[in-house]
Amino acid sequence: METKNAYNAPSKLYIGSAYYPEQWPEVNLQEDIRLMREAGFNIARLGDFAWSSLEPEAGKYQFGWLERAISALAESGIETVLCTPTAGPPAWLISQYPEILPIDERGVRVQFGNRCHYCVNSPEFHHAVRSLVREMAVSFGTNPHIIGWQIDNEFNRYCYCSHCLQLFQEYLAHHYGTLDQLNQHWTTAYWSQTYDSWDQIPLPIGPHNPGLMLEFKHFITLSYKRLLQMQISELRPHLPQGTWITHNFMDWHDGYDHYAMSENLDMASWDWYVGMGNHDYQTSGAAHDLVRGYKRRNFWLMETQPGNVNWKPLNNVLDKGETRTMAWHAVGHGADAVLYWQWRSDLNGQEQYHGTLLDTSGQPRLVYTEAQQLANDFSSTSDLLAGTKLEAEVALLNCFDSRWSIQWQPHHKDFNYVAHLLHYYRPLASMNITVDILSADSNLKGYKLVIAPALLILNDQRVAQLRSFVENGGYLVLTLRSGMKDGYNALLPSRQPGALVELSGVEVEEYYALMTPVPLAGDGWKGTSSIWAERLRIRDVEGTQVLATYGESNGWLDGQPAITSRQIGKGTVTFIGAYLDDVNQKSLLQQITRETAIQPVLKTPAGVEACRRVNSKLGDIIILINYNRSRQRIQLPWPAREHLQGLAVGDELTLEPYGVAVVTRDT
Ligand code: GAL
Repeated sequence: METKNAYNAPSKLYIGSAYYPEQWPEVNLQEDIRLMREAGFNIARLGDFAWSSLEPEAGKYQFGWLERAISALAESGIETVLCTPTAGPPAWLISQYPEILPIDERGVRVQFGNRCHYCVNSPEFHHAVRSLVREMAVSFGTNPHIIGWQIDNEFNRYCYCSHCLQLFQEYLAHHYGTLDQLNQHWTTAYWSQTYDSWDQIPLPIGPHNPGLMLEFKHFITLSYKRLLQMQISELRPHLPQGTWITHNFMDWHDGYDHYAMSENLDMASWDWYVGMGNHDYQTSGAAHDLVRGYKRRNFWLMETQPGNVNWKPLNNVLDKGETRTMAWHAVGHGADAVLYWQWRSDLNGQEQYHGTLLDTSGQPRLVYTEAQQLANDFSSTSDLLAGTKLEAEVALLNCFDSRWSIQWQPHHKDFNYVAHLLHYYRPLASMNITVDILSADSNLKGYKLVIAPALLILNDQRVAQLRSFVENGGYLVLTLRSGMKDGYNALLPSRQPGALVELSGVEVEEYYALMTPVPLAGDGWKGTSSIWAERLRIRDVEGTQVLATYGESNGWLDGQPAITSRQIGKGTVTFIGAYLDDVNQKSLLQQITRETAIQPVLKTPAGVEACRRVNSKLGDIIILINYNRSRQRIQLPWPAREHLQGLAVGDELTLEPYGVAVVTRDT
């Protein structure tokens, strides 16, 4: 099924915006499209939330306005991404079936009118979704101007209704087979939680048994996956080869396992909002790389902010030039498209003050010219960049189960799984080293360095893949909080890092949540560990080298190993039991990347990012982005051609504040 419509590398870069013609008189259509064309846009995203305009009453479909909009856009060379509008169940449907509205954690039914107001498992909702999506598939499936479909919008709500409860219990019965198994895996003898009937098991509200909490996340994942798959199954038979299906995810949203959710998609996409403040490329780069890792291929930036959002305490506008650098940053990390949310300010509705490209009067806002410049940039580099991809020598492993588990019992209020992962990502980003962020269950072949931050939960497959990676000469970094639990969120009956002790040559004797930073020192350097420290015990005394030792602190840690490294066959395993200060974290990662001969894309001054996309015929394309408010001179590895200006620049170039350059070797 997946191969039929797999995402083919597009023949151009796309730029455009979300467009809601249903919110405006149809006479506006031509002028809107004229302005899109003048902006240089080539894609529009339509239909999300438009259910009441597409089906104003049960079974009465009204698709004419959408067909006319898609055709008018196409006449101006603008293609369409069509969304299923299922995140906006209309009032008539809710009146007919009020039980579609989800029940929140407090047992209160959610009110109509704030979108995503559906119980993900509601049979009435499923029935209505299926009918509408089938009808849309028949009417629009073969429309040549629709290049892809987005299912729903940013899945996010949880429901605690009696139907969800029953399905959850059925899911558990199916998954565990017997209550004995479940009781055992969840250690339910603890606090007399033993279940003797499936219908005694609740949906967890607030802190609960860790096994139950993890299964609830798996159940939510499955529930959304089912809704997603239901829509895919309605659409797929009507779509021509090459028309892709996606869903737009949200940043590091933790509502469900995004790897499982991405399985049946052709391509992953996401919605990126800076929100309050300004863009920090070393953090956002990780979010792009995360989404690229969902399908291990390029992605779409389905929404991003033109100027400002409306949902933060302070909704500042991005600086002049920043919007353009953000778009190039996304492309540098594998985006094949950048779409703004949204085209024109709504007169009413919950997002009246959100940034847009046109104001309420229909005139371009100031940021429109920046989007126009970007469209111009894209058109001069599209041939070069279309079909290119990133190549990384480093993989960072990510695991939703481990993240949830730590989040529920952080043991230190400041321990955050994602922040810890970023603690490893950011030094690499500052060196312009390309990183893939992958599921901890991925095949690791081809990487030189794999970092597994806080890989708390182990399973046989993970252990086998990590072992084979090291045996084949890879360099593996394990960190604190790794190898502590199994897939039921139960602690392992062994010391950390569980089945990886043998590989790492060390075990964790004790772990400490820290009140204050603890000193540590290595060969020629001194630093600290904050938040967390693990005392390591060396098992393979001959083959393991101590890279850092704790100084005087709580007595237990004094003089004990904090970081170790072990050569094993052709490979290396380094265990980092400390949460190092930024300066030493960077030095450590510099040292590891030196040892593994990992090359940065390019050495650049601070605040200048260099990303690389590889063109199978033309070789490396380097995208340079200056986030500084001052000019920067960049030394290039070869005499280059700069493609935004279409000039030969020699082996040095100057980037203006917020300037961008796209260079290839001049031949
Ligand atoms: C997204 C959402 C859009 C719009 C946007 C505003 O999360 O998908 O529909 O609401 O936020 O920032």
